[in-house]
Amino acid sequence: MDDVTQARRSWRVGVLFSQTGATSGVERTQLQATLLAIDEINAAGGVLDLPIEPVVYDPQSSPKSFRALAERLLGLDRVRLVFGCYMSSTRKAVLPVIESHRALLFYPTLYEGFEYSKHCIYTGAAPNQNSVQLARFLFEHYGNRFMLVGSNYVYPYESNRVMTDLVRQSGGKIVNELYVPLNAREEHFARAVNEIRKTAPDVIFSTVVGEATAAFYKAYRAAGFDPARQPIASLTTGEAEVADMPAEVAEGHLTAAPFFETLGTAAARRFTAAYKARHGEAAPVPAAAEAAYFQVHLAAAAIARAGSADPERVLPELADIEFAAPQGRVRIDRDNNHTYLWPRVARLDARGKFQIVWNPGVRVRPDPYSVVPSLDDWSSDGIGSALPLSSPAG
Ligand code: ACM
Repeated sequence: MDDVTQARRSWRVGVLFSQTGATSGVERTQLQATLLAIDEINAAGGVLDLPIEPVVYDPQSSPKSFRALAERLLGLDRVRLVFGCYMSSTRKAVLPVIESHRALLFYPTLYEGFEYSKHCIYTGAAPNQNSVQLARFLFEHYGNRFMLVGSNYVYPYESNRVMTDLVRQSGGKIVNELYVPLNAREEHFARAVNEIRKTAPDVIFSTVVGEATAAFYKAYRAAGFDPARQPIASLTTGEAEVADMPAEVAEGHLTAAPFFETLGTAAARRFTAAYKARHGEAAPVPAAAEAAYFQVHLAAAAIARAGSADPERVLPELADIEFAAPQGRVRIDRDNNHTYLWPRVARLDARGKFQIVWNPGVRVRPDPYSVVPSLDDWSSDGIGSALPLSSPAG
C-alpha cells in the first residue's frame, strides 16, 4: 500500500461527473451509480479492510473545468484513480493530466473509438459494440438512407464517420449531415426538421447529447413525422434523456446499448432496484450508469488483488478479473483497455420504456480501432451464441 493511503486509512479516489450543465442529466446517474457501488463495497468491509473514500467535484459539463478539477484531484487531493467523464471532449481534456501524473481514469461512457491510453480504462461501448448492431437492425427494418444530426463536438463527428462507413458498406446513402450547438433548444432544430421533410430519409441517426436531446425529439414530434416508419436512432438517447420528454414524444425511437433498466435478468433487477431504492421509482437508470457502477467494482477487485491503488499495480490485475455486471459478465481486454460487453437493440414503447427488439446474445470483444470494420463480424469472444437478426427479441 502506498504511503498516502496508509496515512489516511482509506482508498481515496476522484469522482468527476457533472451535476450541472448540458449533460448533467445523464452524468448525475453516473455519479449516483458510482456512489452506490462505493457504498456497497464499504458496507461489505471495504477493500482489504479500508473504505473507499470518494472525492467528488462538479465539473459543470465543461472541458476546462474537467481539466482543472483533474489537476486538483491528482495534485492537492493526491488521488491516483479517477472515475469520470461523459462527453468525449471532457475525456480528451482530462487524459493528458491523468497521463502526466501516471494516474488511471475509468471512463464509463459509449464513445467514438479510435483511442488507446495506458492510463484509461474504457467501460462504455466502442462502435463495434453498439453502432454496428444498431446499423444492422435499422438496415433490415427501416432502410439505409440516413440523415445525420449531431451536437457540435468531437463525438458526433467521429461517430458519424463510423456510421457513414457502415451505411456505405450496406449500399446505402447519407442524405445530409448537420450539427447544432451543445445547448440547442427546439428552434435550433428547425433546419433539421426542414431537411428531414425535404430528403425523407429512412432513419435519422442522432448524435445529439444531453438536454438538447428532448428538444430535438419534441421538434420531430411537433413536425408530425412518424417514428414507426422513420425513427430517430441514437446511441446517446438513453433513459436519462428520455426522462426529459413525454412518452408520446419518445415512442418508436431506437437505440443500442449493453444495458437497459427494463432488462429482466436477476443481476440487472438487483442493480436497478438498489438504484431506485435510493433515488425513487421514476429515477432513470441508463447504460452509462451501469458502466459507472460496474467499473468501481472492477477497480475495487483489482486494488484488492494488487494490495495497492498504484495504477502501475492495479492495471495488470484488471485484465484478469471477470465481474458479474448487471448486463452480464464483463472483463477488460489486456491489449486495448476496453471492455467485453453485451450489445442489445431496443425501441421505446408507449410508456417511454426501452423494450429490447434484438438481443444478439453474445459478448462482444472490444475493437476500438474497428480493425474488423464489418457489419457481420463483431469479434465475439465466443461467450453466448449469436441469434440471427430476425429472431424474436430476448
Ligand atoms: C460521448 O461524447 N462519448 C457521448
